[in-house]
Amino acid sequence: MTTKDELLKLFEANKGIYYNGEQIAAKLGVSRNAIWKAVTALREAGYPIESQKNRGYCMSPDSDIVSAQGISKYLTAELNIEVYDEVVSTNTMLKERASSGAPEGLVIIANSQTGGKGRLGRSFYSPLDTGVYISVLLRPSTLPPQKALKITTMAAVAASEAVDIVSDKDSKIKWVNDIFLDGLKVAGILTEASVSMENGNLEYAVLGIGFNVYEPKNGFPDEIKGIAGSILRKPSADAKNRIAAEFLNRFYSFWKEGEGSDYYREYKQRSLVIGKKVNVISPNSSVKATVLDITDDCSLLVRYEDGTVSELSTGEVSIRPEV
Ligand code: BTN
Repeated sequence: MTTKDELLKLFEANKGIYYNGEQIAAKLGVSRNAIWKAVTALREAGYPIESQKNRGYCMSPDSDIVSAQGISKYLTAELNIEVYDEVVSTNTMLKERASSGAPEGLVIIANSQTGGKGRLGRSFYSPLDTGVYISVLLRPSTLPPQKALKITTMAAVAASEAVDIVSDKDSKIKWVNDIFLDGLKVAGILTEASVSMENGNLEYAVLGIGFNVYEPKNGFPDEIKGIAGSILRKPSADAKNRIAAEFLNRFYSFWKEGEGSDYYREYKQRSLVIGKKVNVISPNSSVKATVLDITDDCSLLVRYEDGTVSELSTGEVSIRPEV
């Protein structure tokens, strides 16, 4: 770890507490000049570090900047986290790392994405500082591709629970991968996978999730106005680090429990669509149906207007609630 990283760890773990240059230098085993340089670098990176004569330096208790050190305060899952200011897409970056052999548990987090990807070839609006964009590398030993839906549904439950903790409200899951709060989409999930040619199982999967924590400075773009929303209305200390950690803790625990996990009960309870009328959308059609239930493997049971009942799994279709 660099002196800057070590200093950030100290400040994140002790927000609001003053340390003088000499104390910090002794703690980190470096010179006072090195501390001064590290403080300057952290300030340049946007960290609100206050200084007072005779008291030294302290990080403002209100700060809310995503960092591995900030997340680690809340993280219990054994994951290896890397944080970047701007990437094209955390999913794309992690897939590249996966192809060159990175192990399960590598997590790439960005403060902004220039080419954030959504489902069905759409883009995912990922502006700087108001959201958190996360990708997690998974290397299932025996998961057949048709079970990959589990990764998305586990993530949806984990995300919905994390949103509730930070917002103190009740979020809902719109099958299959959207998290809604107060009627607006506040998080979306995109799972991408590589299949082994040898045994047909998943070689690796990259789970990507984007949280809209705050309203973007200039509002959401016209295309998603009235559809996208934010988890919080006003700045809240550590909200972004907290939401990332609460999500990762929950998701990784479901993932490790595997078949033994009963996350799907929670998935069903949080569903926005059970009992609702929806349009079932596939590339060439849109058909009206009523959602009857969600099965134990999170497929959607629907009844079409002609009375036929069908079980839908993602990839084939998406649904849009009827208005
Ligand atoms: C959707 O709502 O259609 C899915 C959105 C998924 C967005 C996340 S943000 C982190 C990861 N990197 C990406 O490029 N996409 C996913």
